Amino acid sequence: MRNFVNLNDLTIQEIMQLIKTSLAYKNEQLDLPTESKNVANLFFENSTRTASSFQMAESKLGWQPIQVNPQTSSTQKGESLSDTLKTLGAIGVDVVVLRHSINDWYEPLIAENSALMPQLVNAGDGNGQHPSQSLLDLMTIYEQFGYFSDLNIRIVGDLAHSRVARSNAEILKRLGAKVSFSGPKQWYPADFDQYGTYQEMDQGLENLDVLMLLRVQHERLAQQDNDDFLETTYHQQFGLTDNRYEQLKDKAIIMHPAPVNRGIEIANELVEADKSRIFTQMANGVYARIAILTSLMEEKVNDININ
Ligand code: CP
Repeated sequence: MRNFVNLNDLTIQEIMQLIKTSLAYKNEQLDLPTESKNVANLFFENSTRTASSFQMAESKLGWQPIQVNPQTSSTQKGESLSDTLKTLGAIGVDVVVLRHSINDWYEPLIAENSALMPQLVNAGDGNGQHPSQSLLDLMTIYEQFGYFSDLNIRIVGDLAHSRVARSNAEILKRLGAKVSFSGPKQWYPADFDQYGTYQEMDQGLENLDVLMLLRVQHERLAQQDNDDFLETTYHQQFGLTDNRYEQLKDKAIIMHPAPVNRGIEIANELVEADKSRIFTQMANGVYARIAILTSLMEEKVNDININ
């Protein structure tokens, strides 16, 4: 694979291969490749999980990260993203892992078709895509159930601003899951109807296999939304309360990409409850990112036979 920028560009077979490869690395059924690459991680937006788990994946692979801090780089003097990346390519960086607030930041860079451009990994673009998060989410669901077909999966919350909601909904539908959505109507994009159905929050909780909560994105909302709505009524109307938790099946799992707004999307004491896989998702993220980075070594996603 030349670049990893949008999971929805891949076929179902390629996505399943990435999921199984991620799990095989986690379960030590696959040896890590010995070939290494020079990599740079550029996070123009804040990150804890994605940045540190890419670093951990690179460390496990024996890759040497080149330190470039966007906040102290020459982008602050006005150098374009394109020239920044071609500069890194010229000095020998093979792969750039990049997060940026601009949606689809990678498209014009790939369209340049420059030999100087390193291979690109999208670590999140605006409210567009977050493909490595999607992969670790799929890995976590597949690890739990071993299939996707007919799983009842509810995605709840800030669907309009989330960069994982749309890609997860689309991929889960392609994988055969039954997807539904809940949350404030003003955050429900009408075109989500193509991926699933909108349901009232308390409707059908007892039938769910996966309850995927989304972070309320304070930084992308108007201050008034924060003050007037989030801190007061959001948790009661759309959050995971003890009462809603009790309605879920014993085998249901709760997911959240994090960071979690404790007491808003989910009651504080439920973050580490039995049904929660929130910290499992973070652990899985390292192996999903190893699978992504190693897939860049092949023209296509590795065709490894893993049962
Ligand atoms: N889930 C996620 O992307 O977290 P970070 O913003 O901390 O990387």
